[in-house]
Amino acid sequence: MSTREKARGPTAPGSWLYVYSDGGSRGNPGPAGIGGQAKDESGNLLLEVCEFLGEATSNVAEYHALIAVLEACGGLGYDRVRVRTDSELLANQITGVYKVKSKALRPLHYRVKALLDGFRAVEVEHVPREKNNPCDVLANRAIDEGLSGVLKAVLQPGDKGLFPAPAAGDGAVPSERRRRNEPVSSRKQMECCVIGTGYVGLVTGACLADLGHLITCVDRDSEKIDALRQGDVPIFEAGLEAIVERQVASGNLRFTSDIRGAIASSEFIFVTVNTPPDSEGKADLTNVDSVAREIAAVINGYKVIINKSTVPVGSTRRVERTIEESMDEYCEFDVVSNPEFLREGTAVSDFQKPARIVIGSDSQKAIMRMIELYRGIDAPLLVTDPVSAEMIKYASNAFLATKVSYINAIANICEAVGGDVREVSLGMGYDERIGFEFLKAGPGFGGSCFPKDCRALLAISVDSGYDFNLLKGVLDVNREQQERVVMKIERVLGGLEGKKVAILGLAFKANTDDIRESPAVNVIRMLLEKGAVVKAYDPQAMDNTRRTLSGVEFADDPYQAVRGADVMVLLTEWDEFKWLDYSRVGELMKSRSIVDTRNCLDPVVLRKLGFAYEGIGR
Ligand code: UDX
Ligand code: UDX
Repeated sequence: MSTREKARGPTAPGSWLYVYSDGGSRGNPGPAGIGGQAKDESGNLLLEVCEFLGEATSNVAEYHALIAVLEACGGLGYDRVRVRTDSELLANQITGVYKVKSKALRPLHYRVKALLDGFRAVEVEHVPREKNNPCDVLANRAIDEGLSGVLKAVLQPGDKGLFPAPAAGDGAVPSERRRRNEPVSSRKQMECCVIGTGYVGLVTGACLADLGHLITCVDRDSEKIDALRQGDVPIFEAGLEAIVERQVASGNLRFTSDIRGAIASSEFIFVTVNTPPDSEGKADLTNVDSVAREIAAVINGYKVIINKSTVPVGSTRRVERTIEESMDEYCEFDVVSNPEFLREGTAVSDFQKPARIVIGSDSQKAIMRMIELYRGIDAPLLVTDPVSAEMIKYASNAFLATKVSYINAIANICEAVGGDVREVSLGMGYDERIGFEFLKAGPGFGGSCFPKDCRALLAISVDSGYDFNLLKGVLDVNREQQERVVMKIERVLGGLEGKKVAILGLAFKANTDDIRESPAVNVIRMLLEKGAVVKAYDPQAMDNTRRTLSGVEFADDPYQAVRGADVMVLLTEWDEFKWLDYSRVGELMKSRSIVDTRNCLDPVVLRKLGFAYEGIGR
């Protein structure tokens, strides 16, 4: 038991724990939410619960709320509890005044009884419903925002909680929210190391330092570390350079190749090394295993090891086993799955304002430490088991990739029937069940994640004996989409041999210099194989492309790229390509022909300028 927890137990032997809970339902049954708090005798908030329940009656919601709080109180060391609820029905049910007949309720009722039996003294009190009852507000917010998470954190006396209820009468939850975003300075600074300073590692490390934590970023690539020490950030990512500079200056952010020193001085160890696909498409865990062995070699106190790299289902257990088997002497540690959802180009804001934070662990201790670490970030915390957390990452990426392949398939039908896919995705997107996001047709998806993670999930499904036809289709459509782009260019030019093709865009999407699995690079490879002469331009990704692709001439600017070209092909949706002077482009080209694989140019304007225009699905 660490010193910190000792401070949290009952303030005096025999003191009472106070449990408040409320379940709210919209309709009966209807969407329901639960909210709850536990306080000590002096009214200090110990923990909070906020959860979206799905369909339930309010009575069922009331029971769930109480169970969630009582379960979360496990380990706080109280043996006397006072339950306060504004539901007279619930109070009479758990005191046995009312018999619980309904089948739906009975298992919940017995669960409450079992939990209350864990206390030496129990008092249940029905308190009148009050305006702005904090638990009521929590339950409603859970319904409104779909919040979920059993939150148990070592809250400091006076803390207004992780889901603060508005003070009586002001209802200004947002202002209260500001309290949660207080910088770390007013709380304990955490010592963390981030192993693998690539895209995810560097953004994670820099943003955690910006939250006020003490961060050591580690990489085996000493050149990268030397460059970072000089403030030279090796990747193009909006806002990252400024944070690195600021936090190196503040002393919160350090870079080293000394992995053992970094591990020894940190409580939190983020694993963000690359997990490239092996020949079967499975994620290769060699790097993760070697980090686990390094940890085992120097572990010198309680550690929270955080898998942030995209790793197959079961990897949390695997890392645990590797450390246990490699340790000379046992030392307490926990491994947590904490997948990242950073998009390149917006990675910094994705870290600072995530749609959710997923914590996969069975250890309450590790969960509490993780909640502490992420305090300061305003987002729903989803606390779940490690396997579900690992699956959330793959399932999310594969679902987004499915949306992209779906709209590309629809685009191909639109081309055949004379529809406009942009209109179609607009019409679809208004339906909130579909949404507008990830419905832009194009040359197919690329990047370091979607293709790799879809293949890895396919390999996981094969190993689990499930034939994931749908996902196979997603990857097939994606491959075909890039081949269709080449066929479209070939058709426009009446053959590719010796034809000059100007390529605008090399990165797998705009606002990044990353060309990993870039559709643009794949298309160029096919064009070169068919004898085309390619001249390319990209505002950020040319250096990376020069390192991987030969046989391409690189231009200094878009106009130089299109000079003398038979066709201009737009493959990455950089804003600067939308604002080019297209009458000048027309004058420079050998023939005015454009293939816009991102549908980001205006065909009407271009046709007026004498261009032959081809988009995707329009
Ligand atoms: C990585 C994973 O590849 C991806 O699966 C996950 O989703 C996010 O994290 P990324 O950050 O893009 O993606 O990887 P990369 O840019 O290749 O960086 C990995 C870094 O780890 C490299 O700098 C590499 O030098 C470093 N590394 C790798 C180590 O320091 N030690 C190792 O043992 C292996
Ligand atoms: C993705 C996920 O979005 C992110 O949550 C995860 O952590 C890592 O993988 P990223 O690889 O940076 O992020 O790219 P993303 O913005 O998701 O785009 C993926 C690919 O899909 C790109 O090639 C993009 O051009 C393409 N795409 C995306 C489309 O073709 N149409 C769309 O509507 C959206």
